[in-house]
Amino acid sequence: MSMSTASPVPESAVPPSEPAQVRLARIQRRFAEFAQEYAALPLYSTISRHVAEDDETASLLLSARPGQARPVLWLAALHDLVLRRPDVPAAQWYPSVAGAGALAHGDPWPDVRRTVLDHADEISDRIATRATQTNEVNRAVYVTVGLAAATADRPDTPLALVELGASAGLLLALDRYSVELRSPDGPVQVGDPASPVRCSGDDRTGVGARIAARTGLPPVHGRVGVDAAPVDLRDDEAVRWLEACLWPEVPGRVERFRSARDLLRPDPPPVLAGDMVDGLATAVDRARRSAGADAHVVVLSSWAMTYLAPDRRDDLASAIEALSRQAPDLTWLTAEPPGCVPGIEVPHDAVDGSTVLGVRRWRKARELGPLALGTCHPHGSWLNLTLPLTPR
Ligand SMILES: C[S@@+](CC[C@H](N)C(=O)[O-])C[C@H]1O[C@@H](n2cnc3c(N)ncnc32)[C@H](O)[C@@H]1O
Repeated sequence: MSMSTASPVPESAVPPSEPAQVRLARIQRRFAEFAQEYAALPLYSTISRHVAEDDETASLLLSARPGQARPVLWLAALHDLVLRRPDVPAAQWYPSVAGAGALAHGDPWPDVRRTVLDHADEISDRIATRATQTNEVNRAVYVTVGLAAATADRPDTPLALVELGASAGLLLALDRYSVELRSPDGPVQVGDPASPVRCSGDDRTGVGARIAARTGLPPVHGRVGVDAAPVDLRDDEAVRWLEACLWPEVPGRVERFRSARDLLRPDPPPVLAGDMVDGLATAVDRARRSAGADAHVVVLSSWAMTYLAPDRRDDLASAIEALSRQAPDLTWLTAEPPGCVPGIEVPHDAVDGSTVLGVRRWRKARELGPLALGTCHPHGSWLNLTLPLTPR
């Protein structure tokens, strides 16, 4: 089951002249499809199946901005309400509020429908003004392995880490988390073993665990993100919306998010507001100022480039190549859908929804061969890496 929460390809804008009935029918078809695709999620699939048949609740999604009328936005708006108002009847069905072990039994729909209709104005308002956005903490699993692999020839050189599309910057602090890789050769732990943020994934081939055990994470001396809509970890409402966009039924997902939020809130990694292509040079400059001119610059993109139009992806590749002439060592680490990153081949096992872990490395302005390290679950639940990087 794929667990990505947002289609990276925006749907085309709805023609303003289209009758509401036609739009409503399309919205309800989407709920029916969502219910089918995510049948393994009891709460969200049940709600979606009912909304597909219920004009009153489905019609709230008519207030969405062009291109945003997707079931995940409706579900996030309701989740936001439930997080904000744990006294509403629907809340007892949400593991993120009631706790996974204390959920109500039976059919959630009567309570959910009542809650939605009693708070229709609030939910509509959220739908009209928001878009879904995520920051997946467990992606630290594939980023950790990618970083260990990409810096294997520079294990002691401090990193200037720059994340494109960093959201709230939760991945920029991955060295403050505990990452466990469960491999056929046994578990390997990387990062801070005492961290309250526990990330883990199955390393199917054992390649990632071997690389991580050998290299570990280099010291991160500078970290800066850039995002079109950065989330300030000290802004409670914005952070609650980010949490509301998570699917409450996926075990550990909300808990991990909350522990990372609490760990980082006193001193969040800086995330600059801006477009990732236009803001790249400033972010790299700022990270190098913290880490030192000799630092190894690592530019990370995780489920972010997929939002760029193909010509902007080429622009980004050119901008990164240009920066490689200014830093002694530069690595571009990518975790994006197949075919998204210029120069990174699609692994043979990649399917729709896979995440391809790739690296492009420049050493003294000369590019080493681009490498696809393998595929991963989009939230780091598993890795299937085939290519061990060896020191140069
Ligand atoms: C799916 S989230 C991924 C967040 C984070 N990288 C992660 O893996 O958890 C994509 C992020 O990219 C940002 N984004 C989309 N287009 C962008 C652009 N052109 N420039 C900068 N950020 C962008 C969004 O605002 C969002 O925060």
